[in-house]
Amino acid sequence: MPPGEDARVLFDAPTIARRVEGLADEIVAAMGERLVAVGLLKGAFVFLADLIRALDRAGARPGVEFLRLSSYGLGTVSAGQVHLIGDVPTDIAGRRILLVDDIVDTGRSIAYAATLLRQRDITDLKTCTLLDKPSRREVDLVPDFVGFEVPDVFVAGYGIDYAERYRHLPGIVAVEGAK
Ligand code: IMP
Ligand code: MG
Repeated sequence: MPPGEDARVLFDAPTIARRVEGLADEIVAAMGERLVAVGLLKGAFVFLADLIRALDRAGARPGVEFLRLSSYGLGTVSAGQVHLIGDVPTDIAGRRILLVDDIVDTGRSIAYAATLLRQRDITDLKTCTLLDKPSRREVDLVPDFVGFEVPDVFVAGYGIDYAERYRHLPGIVAVEGAK
């Protein structure tokens, strides 16, 4: 870890695993068994991998797609503008979509992705995020399913990066001294 930087565990792996099972139950109760989980890359890939298997245990048979967006540069401050780098196939028309992200901060990324997918003649779209930082919200967006609410701290681990580091951590840490 670079000098001046420290990491404090917020949610360890067993705590995340238990919450993911609970989220899957909530999702199946609200959306039923036929849905397509669309993950936002790269941050949501670990969460989505665990969530689809929890959805299976909850009785669902989710399809899996990804959208790749980019907004962050190498620092911790969002560039504010979201770009589409990779799209989903066109055959999601008529499907029930569960849009999945790692963390909702300003809300711009997930709002952008939701708007894009709603233009595709889908039946229904709900949003799911493992972490929610509502104090930072800049657009009018309330995720339908939230794993944990977090204060305004910079987090990493479980797929979430700080300058492309820490994605491999099994738990989620708050990076202190992050710039
Ligand atoms: P938003 O568009 O501002 O809501 O930001 C969403 C994206 O920014 C998330 O999907 C993350 O990839 C990234 N992000 C936001 N907050 C954090 C953080 O605390 N740590 C790491 N990435 C973050
Ligand atoms: Mg992300």
